[in-house]
Amino acid sequence: MIKPDAVSAGNTGAITKMIEEAGFRIVAVKKTQLTPERAGQFYAIHKERPFFKDLCSYMSSGAIVPMILEKENAVEDFRKLIGATDPQKAAPGTIRNLFAKSIEANAIHGSDSDENAEIEGSFFFAKTECF
Ligand code: CMP
Repeated sequence: MIKPDAVSAGNTGAITKMIEEAGFRIVAVKKTQLTPERAGQFYAIHKERPFFKDLCSYMSSGAIVPMILEKENAVEDFRKLIGATDPQKAAPGTIRNLFAKSIEANAIHGSDSDENAEIEGSFFFAKTECF
């Protein structure tokens, strides 16, 4: 999911190009906006964290671009491509190193397991939208 900071900065195209050039196939993509409640559902796992309320307001502050991606070893390879959560710690050349503004406005989200990729994919897309 490309996050509001990167979409509003006009970086959707550059980030999508990096994703495709790294060998990911885009199975589904759209531009949409979350309400704070929907953002809270997406990040329910973080609801006890001190940054949860701010995260929900940030994630609903503008358009996002969720995608379903396909590749061998996709979860691990995507996390390498995007870099560490904190852009200060993200390796040079990673998406967060290049485009993130802060630990919160960190440009992009990637699923942390195949199981969560299924759950997060179906949060945004019906099976009939995936080709
Ligand atoms: P993401 O990988 O999408 O998962 C949780 C999100 O919470 C994270 O990226 C950031 O956007 C946000 N966040 C804000 N503050 C923190 C923090 N201190 N540690 C981790 N994540 C944070």
